[in-house]
Amino acid sequence: MPRSRTIASYLAFCILSLYSPLHDVTGLNICTSGSATSCEECLLIHPQCAWCSKEEVDGIKSITSRCDHVENLLRKGCTKEFIENPVSSISIVKDLPLSSKGSGTAHADVIQIIPQNISISLRPGAPTSFRVQVRQVEDYPVDLYYLMDLSLSMKDDLDNIRNLGTKLTEEMKKLTSNFRLGFGSFVDKNISPFSYKAPRYQDNPCIGYKFFPNCVPSFGFRHLLSLTDKVDSFNQEVQKQKVSRNRDAPEGGFDAILQAAVCKEKIGWRKEASHLLVFTTDDVPHLALDGKLGGLVQPHDGQCHLNEANEYSASSEMDYPSLALLGEKLAENNIYLIFAVTKSHYMLYKNFTSLIPGTTVEILDQDSKNIIQLIINAYNSIRSKVELTVWDNPEDLSLAFTATCQDGLSHPGLRKCEDLKIGDTVSFDVSVQASSCPATDTKHAFILKPVGFRDTLEVTVTYNCSCGCAAQMEPNSTKCSDNGTYTCGLCMCDAGYLGAKCECREGDNVNTYQSMCREAEGKPLCSGRGECSCNQCVCYESDFGKIGGPFCECDDFSCPRYKGVLCSGHGECVCGECKCHAGFIGDNCNCSTETDRCISSDGQMCSGKGSCVCGSCQCTHPGAFGETCEKCPTCPDACTAKRDCIECRLFNSGRLADNHTCQKLCKDEIVTVDDLGTNEQDSSVLCIYKTDSDCVMRFTYSEDVSGKSVLTALKEPECGSGPNALTVLLAVVGSILLVGFALLAIWKLIITIHDRREFAKFQSERSRARYEMASNPLYRQPISTHSLDMVFNLLNKAHNGAVN
Ligand SMILES: *[C@@H]1O[C@H](CO)[C@@H](O)[C@H](O)[C@H]1NC(C)=O
Ligand SMILES: *[C@@H]1O[C@H](CO)[C@@H](O)[C@H](O)[C@H]1NC(C)=O
Ligand SMILES: *[C@@H]1O[C@H](CO)[C@@H](O)[C@H](O)[C@H]1NC(C)=O
Ligand SMILES: *[C@@H]1O[C@H](CO)[C@@H](O)[C@H](O)[C@H]1NC(C)=O
Ligand SMILES: *[C@@H]1O[C@H](CO)[C@@H](O)[C@H](O)[C@H]1NC(C)=O
Ligand SMILES: *[C@@H]1O[C@H](CO)[C@@H](O)[C@H](O)[C@H]1NC(C)=O
Ligand SMILES: *[C@@H]1O[C@H](CO)[C@@H](O)[C@H](O)[C@H]1NC(C)=O
Repeated sequence: MPRSRTIASYLAFCILSLYSPLHDVTGLNICTSGSATSCEECLLIHPQCAWCSKEEVDGIKSITSRCDHVENLLRKGCTKEFIENPVSSISIVKDLPLSSKGSGTAHADVIQIIPQNISISLRPGAPTSFRVQVRQVEDYPVDLYYLMDLSLSMKDDLDNIRNLGTKLTEEMKKLTSNFRLGFGSFVDKNISPFSYKAPRYQDNPCIGYKFFPNCVPSFGFRHLLSLTDKVDSFNQEVQKQKVSRNRDAPEGGFDAILQAAVCKEKIGWRKEASHLLVFTTDDVPHLALDGKLGGLVQPHDGQCHLNEANEYSASSEMDYPSLALLGEKLAENNIYLIFAVTKSHYMLYKNFTSLIPGTTVEILDQDSKNIIQLIINAYNSIRSKVELTVWDNPEDLSLAFTATCQDGLSHPGLRKCEDLKIGDTVSFDVSVQASSCPATDTKHAFILKPVGFRDTLEVTVTYNCSCGCAAQMEPNSTKCSDNGTYTCGLCMCDAGYLGAKCECREGDNVNTYQSMCREAEGKPLCSGRGECSCNQCVCYESDFGKIGGPFCECDDFSCPRYKGVLCSGHGECVCGECKCHAGFIGDNCNCSTETDRCISSDGQMCSGKGSCVCGSCQCTHPGAFGETCEKCPTCPDACTAKRDCIECRLFNSGRLADNHTCQKLCKDEIVTVDDLGTNEQDSSVLCIYKTDSDCVMRFTYSEDVSGKSVLTALKEPECGSGPNALTVLLAVVGSILLVGFALLAIWKLIITIHDRREFAKFQSERSRARYEMASNPLYRQPISTHSLDMVFNLLNKAHNGAVN
């Protein structure tokens, strides 16, 4: 159906325009409406805008029309080599395969992330993406540094971990064949008010403390054993330790964590190992700014300050480190921090873990009995997740992550996978987009790194913001009247010069040029809709649309409208005139050239009773109406037209007898009746025709309320009852017989009457003959008889009268 096709294509158009990034909601072309005045500006408008740097192009008159969609530029006459349209791209610089095992190979070669180095070239606004794969390889080397709170309350703990080294090593050997253990301890800054500084506490702050009268002076952090695989030395070192005593409840543990993290050489962190820092304490830590209580105003510098004696030397000079600094230094050195804290402080440290990436917290028994299980649990939990972090991300780059974890599903927005088994590989799709071009250097780099991994992916970003054509700029070009620089198809005029070809001089007599801003002599400058600059019109902006043309004589909003829609929606408004789309004509493009809808069911154009105008029938025949002028009850041939349908539909005979044609052409409703009531509908037309068998068929043709034609026909044609041969024969024979009988009867009657009459005559004659014999007329009886009847009658009457 033509109508539904139009609607479908209209919908498709709408959807396309909605999704086309080149058109904003009003349907305007973003590239051309962005009024770019240079190639660089154009490229920034939208990643799909391109610039034409060709000098003379027929279709390109104004500067802004040089910036358009590539297809449009090609259509306007620009050629490919002159089109500037850089795209974002990626090249992989280093792509070594993932390792499957951590031990056995040289550790420096163990690779847990792929690729390792990529370089991307970005066009602002155009995202590009790459995939990173991360694998926790099996049997990866582990360095574990045990950092212990040696404040007085940890006395029982110290007793319990005297042989920790042996047991822990035993357990860890099950997880990795390459394990090292180190040890350090802390209390708090040895200054007032954090520690006891009165002279009598000089050597033993526990003097006078009745439960445990012997302990060592307080200290910030003491590194006791560098990471080693010699378990015995760990045990020995632990056994040597003595607890200390500080004054306030919080401890200086964060000082110790920072030193343990940054003093790489002293601690002995191996580059190729996982770094675990186990922090045991039973109290809250001092935080940044607490140092002010002791007069320490200098913030922590994040550096290593271990002296020869392996003690934290800046303890009484710098404040406690902030959480942010701590997090940064831990991540920088790939250290997983495990807070092993007593239950009462679990929530506090739990809250820290959300502020410091790569940390976990586990509950430590009051006496540290569960420390081994705790470490194993923490290690397993660390190894069961991979979280990607971004380092040094330039501000104008936005990154989006999609993680594909063990379940095989992608999780948009997630850069973390959990519940992994050792050896599992997960991948992350990273999409990078630049929002703008950097002002100065066009090279940036950032690093993607799974938390706690040594492995990194280095991403070098270059910006593709410039136009190649800018390299071929011509200073003092003849194309710019020798007084401007020609670049990317445009003239950049030297100071003091104006115009598209720098042909005007600032301050010159304006009138000499102004004539070039008039469409004709006497007309207003730039049609009154723009300003004359040099010899060129700069057209005003209009809220209604765009004003253009060399004299601002054109616009795209003052075209004829139909029903309020510019060019009926079937054309483009070009300089006051509708340029209709294919299939439409007319001033306002409201006239469709399609004739499909004018073809009536009998295949004729408007049933032959009208003409097809703008896609619909205009009926010219008197009395004809309907979408295709197919209805015309008063037309002389109305009966003829419908007769075929009656014949084929009811009797399967006639011109349209074959199925297909009949069903196609005769869609009218046909009602059959036994008798045609003549005057049931005034508007109906009675049609009568004679069938081949000389019968008479009658039907009426009318429109029902909804305008549908209804045919009411007799069930059967009416035929006058024809002379039947037998009947005729019988009738003839019958009538002959009848006449014969009648004649016979009449003859018989006549004969009978005649006979009777003869007989009567005979009788009378015979009786007369007898009389003649019995009485002689001449003979007279001698006796005469007189009757008295009359007298008696009279007497009777008189008598009756008297009685009454
Ligand atoms: C910019 O992109 C174009 C095309 O994609 C490429 O040929 C060119 O080398 C890129 N330039 C830079 C500086 O990356
Ligand atoms: C990565 O590649 C860039 C340039 O392609 C190079 O400058 C950088 O040094 C490389 N980084 C690594 C870690 O290989
Ligand atoms: C931890 O954080 C929650 C909410 O963020 C807060 O309600 C709770 O008091 C905090 N706990 C501690 C011990 O700071
Ligand atoms: C362009 O012309 C100006 C003065 O007309 C001159 O100073 C300058 O050197 C010229 N530049 C070139 C590249 O020819
Ligand atoms: C360019 O400027 C110079 C003066 O700076 C002038 O003499 C010359 O005529 C100008 N060229 C054109 C084509 O106007
Ligand atoms: C087209 O528009 C003209 C002018 O508004 C109007 O006279 C004509 O009837 C319209 N034609 C159709 C088919 O709508
Ligand atoms: C007409 O159609 C009927 C069923 O629709 C079919 O049985 C019959 O054969 C067809 N006749 C012709 C002539 O096509």
